[in-house]
Amino acid sequence: MRILVTGGCGFIGSNFIRFILEHYKPEFITNVDVLTYAGNLSNLQGIAEQNGERYEFFKVDIANQEAIDAVLTKHKFYAIVNFAAESHVDRSIDSPLNFIHTNIVGTEILLESARRHGVKRFVQVSTDEVYGSLGSEGRFTENSPLAPSSPYSASKAGADLLALAAYRTFGQEVLLTRCSNNYGPYQFPEKLIPLMITRALSDEPLSIYGDGRNIRDWIHVEDHCRAILAVLLEGKPGSVYNIGADCEEENIDLVRNILKILKKPESLIEYVEDRLGHDRRYAIDSSRLRSELDWKPLHTFSQGLEQTITWYIENREWWEPLIKTNR
Ligand SMILES: NC(=O)c1ccc[n+]([C@@H]2O[C@H](COP(=O)([O-])OP(=O)(O)OC[C@H]3O[C@@H](n4cnc5c(N)ncnc54)[C@H](O)[C@@H]3O)[C@@H](O)[C@H]2O)c1
Repeated sequence: MRILVTGGCGFIGSNFIRFILEHYKPEFITNVDVLTYAGNLSNLQGIAEQNGERYEFFKVDIANQEAIDAVLTKHKFYAIVNFAAESHVDRSIDSPLNFIHTNIVGTEILLESARRHGVKRFVQVSTDEVYGSLGSEGRFTENSPLAPSSPYSASKAGADLLALAAYRTFGQEVLLTRCSNNYGPYQFPEKLIPLMITRALSDEPLSIYGDGRNIRDWIHVEDHCRAILAVLLEGKPGSVYNIGADCEEENIDLVRNILKILKKPESLIEYVEDRLGHDRRYAIDSSRLRSELDWKPLHTFSQGLEQTITWYIENREWWEPLIKTNR
């Protein structure tokens, strides 16, 4: 069985490729990634050497129809798992058009190409951010209305609707996952947890938006990857699966905890003007995934966070160059 993974040089895609190659021996993976600032070949260092013909990589833009067709002509693929995306909310506020190009046009090109080439399954990796923001009560279910706040989440919601339309109109076996905030190794140091860890390790100020009381629902990237694999293999076509680990944290508590683990002073914290359209709270109800596909998270937040902090301490040579070129 051969799977086409897109965006496999980013944070979650590279963790997914490692996970599959390690745990599911018969799989063959083709990875296409255009290598934006967030795509890093070193996220998969050693993978090609260790896996021989089980792994191959092509530098391809998913919004380039010809290049995607060429990849799909090369092999008969069982499935596409689409991770490729512009993924940072702040960057979407500065330049939304990149998000339309990759997240919407790119997804549609993949869906059409999958249809033409007879790819059986298509997993669209989406986000809980398509549901918008919650008040202090309740959780997002798969039936919550789409109410995205940022150009990022609006572009992901657009892609979700195109993917579901491909199921309804053409009968393509499309599956959608909507996951909460991920953390773990190889996350680009612009996202909250690695940003705070790397700043603290560099004794730089830790800037917190607004009052710091925004709530995110955290999940370890490996638990997300296991859930995507379960959906890919066993999910019901045309369905949406929320993925979450029931782990709500206020940003400020999380940042204080990181400083405590690193034995750094709270005086590094500085409050800055709030992000435009900043969602207040996310919380995800993943009971459908748990009951239908027998999934549950295996990482606790305290253990996963400590492990992630240790990874950033031990892998300075991975993140220091990224910070120099991107801050
Ligand atoms: N990070 C999270 O907390 C989170 C949570 C839920 C869902 N998601 C979704 O998971 C997916 C992966 O997120 P991530 O955090 O790994 O993102 P990331 O930014 O770390 O990685 C994105 C990857 O996509 C590649 N890419 C971008 N544009 C491309 C294009 N046009 N063609 C080919 N490759 C392209 C980049 O080079 C990069 O390797 C995204 O679709 C995101 O919306 C992320």
